[in-house]
Amino acid sequence: MGKQNITEFDGLDLELFFCTEILKLNSLHYGYWEESEELTQSDKLTLECLRDGQQRYTDMLMAMIPENVKSILDVGCGIGDVSRALAKLGYNVTAISPDSNHGKYFENHSPGLTFLQTKFEDLDIDDKFNLILMSESQNYFPTEIGFRRCASYLLPEGYLLVAGMFRKDDRCQIVEIPNTIEDYTKIAEKHSLLLIESVDITRNILPTINFMCESMQNYVEPGVKMLNHFVSSTSPLKTSFIKFIFRKQINKILQIYSYYRKKMDPLLFTKNVVYAKLLFQLQ
Ligand SMILES: C[S@@+](CC[C@H](N)C(=O)[O-])C[C@H]1O[C@@H](n2cnc3c(N)ncnc32)[C@H](O)[C@@H]1O
Repeated sequence: MGKQNITEFDGLDLELFFCTEILKLNSLHYGYWEESEELTQSDKLTLECLRDGQQRYTDMLMAMIPENVKSILDVGCGIGDVSRALAKLGYNVTAISPDSNHGKYFENHSPGLTFLQTKFEDLDIDDKFNLILMSESQNYFPTEIGFRRCASYLLPEGYLLVAGMFRKDDRCQIVEIPNTIEDYTKIAEKHSLLLIESVDITRNILPTINFMCESMQNYVEPGVKMLNHFVSSTSPLKTSFIKFIFRKQINKILQIYSYYRKKMDPLLFTKNVVYAKLLFQLQ
């Protein structure tokens, strides 16, 4: 899909800033909750609880890595928390992402780890790996190209571990998600990657969406209303002038806001999306 980063504005990645500087999160990915009391009490989520959930997500991913794996390519590594956790466990990790803001954060927080600022489609290295990880990144590049690249960067009998969103069925209304698990698996097979494990974790990650949705309703929306009140408290002529001067910024904020309203709508999510972790092996 070759998506541009919708949250970047004049060199500042607003999502990255919001998550790391305001919410003080260490990760950009979803949180994970076991089917337990914690899951049913998701409406009582706190930021601390979300941070713990994100750590559990990383642990849950690492628990899926087969025993004989030594080297890992982390494709679309974000700010690198998963890469750092993998390196701590002794894996030899190479991390890639085309995003320069993520890259800067990664390099500042991960001394000694290899980071390459590149798209997976453009990666050009000689190394091969026991496992390729795509944590919430598989929808950022064309599926076919992604699998082709995996087949060429995996060592014999290597693994591809994918965790992320898939279309629930063909009626899915979210265009950014191109495949159902079935479609994805069929395309993988064409590239000799066979599905050996598949777990639907939609319910386990859902508290993240509930939390973000509530945060938007409780904090972001009143904040925007307050700003609007300040701007509108002057004369209509001045208000129009201010809105004209800042039209580029206002439009960008509205664009990001409607993107997140859709992305963080729990009903829309459960109706359209399956969140799964899939393990493939090269045959
Ligand atoms: C939602 S973030 C996931 C980050 C991280 N894997 C995690 O679990 O927190 C998606 C990541 O994919 C990266 N990405 C976007 N386009 C890409 C591409 N064409 N090739 C590789 N990575 C890409 C983004 O820059 C970002 O780092």
